[in-house]
Parts: sequence; C-alpha cells; structure tokens
Amino acid sequence: MTSDVKEVLISEQQIAQKVRELGERISADYAGKDLMVVGILKGAIIFLSDLVRSISVPLKLDFMAVSSYGSGTTSSGAVRILKDLETSIEGKHVLIVEDIVDTGLTLRYLLENLRSRGPASVKTCTFLDKPTRRTIEVHPDYNGFEIPDYFVVGYGLDFNEHYRHLPYIAVLKPDASQK
Ligand code: IMP
Ligand code: MG
Repeated sequence: MTSDVKEVLISEQQIAQKVRELGERISADYAGKDLMVVGILKGAIIFLSDLVRSISVPLKLDFMAVSSYGSGTTSSGAVRILKDLETSIEGKHVLIVEDIVDTGLTLRYLLENLRSRGPASVKTCTFLDKPTRRTIEVHPDYNGFEIPDYFVVGYGLDFNEHYRHLPYIAVLKPDASQK
C-alpha cells in the first residue's frame, strides 16, 4: 500500500515534535479549567490519541461524527451529525480536535452547534490547515501544519477509507487516487 505514496509531506519526526508543542500550549492555556476534548471521527483519532498524551492537565474525552454533503470540491453547506456527544458540555471548556480544515464548512458547523449547548468556551485544534481552500471564514485556534492545496492521506486522513494508518502525511501517486 505504501507503494501508492508519491511523496511524504510531513514525517513522523516532524509530527511528533509538533504534537508535543501543541500539547504544551494547550496544557498552559487550560490550566485550572474543566477541559473536554471533542474528537471528530474518524479522521482525528490518530492525532487526538497522540495529542491527549502530551496534554498534562486533566481532561475528559468525547466524540462526534459528521458528514458533509456536496461533491468533493464544492460544499453544499449542509453538515449532518452521524454520531453525537454522549455527555453534556454545559459549563465545560470544549476543545474540538479535527484532522484538517479545508473549506471550513465542517469546523464552522461544529463551532456553531457546540456553542449553542452552553459551554464555558469552544476552541478548535486542527492537525492540518489548507488556507487557500477556505470558502467559509474560520480560523483554528491551534493548528499543526499549514499545507498547500494537495489531497493528503495518513495520520488518520483517508482516501476512500484507505491509508489512515500511515504514520506520516503523504501525497498519493495519481493512479493510487483512482481506487
Ligand atoms: P471542510 O468541511 O471542507 O473543511 O472539510 C473537512 C473535511 O474534509 C475533513 O474533516 C476531512 O475529512 C476532509 N478532507 C479535506 N481535505 C482532505 C485531504 O486532503 N485528505 C483527506 N481528507 C480531507
Ligand atoms: Mg474529517
């Protein structure tokens, strides 16, 4: 499967270093606060599992799964909840952890949805950001790497559900993208 990889964009070492930095910043910012980390399935799971282990303040975990309608490049504007939180976030400091912010549609929806539930605060932490693709204004509070407009896989991100387990961020060969 790794023979489908054209180029490793972000290495395991670069990821580990960045995740440590993010964990330190988050730990400092949330000291003394009631932190609830909300992971967005499935793309964020690998990032989230590394990230929470570099956060030193107490926290709780919950998960949501969402899907966005519309073709790959144009967003219809509709996001649907496939799996909701199991717990209330009222009065909690919520940190949404997402794999990537692309058009911004998903993150904007999640922010508005969770803000309506009475949390103390809602912030966002994304592993990757493709700022040139943004159609909806949203800016992650914490972000690992800004990348150009490439379709990337690995470290939780998929192409047709493949490649999530790759320990690095990669660009696929054109023929691999036909799968
Ligand atoms: P947005 O709503 O357009 O910001 O899209 C965010 C979602 O699109 C992410 O949660 C990913 O599931 C998916 N996505 C966007 N770009 C990529 C990519 O390069 N590789 C894999 N998934 C992507
Ligand atoms: Mg996703």
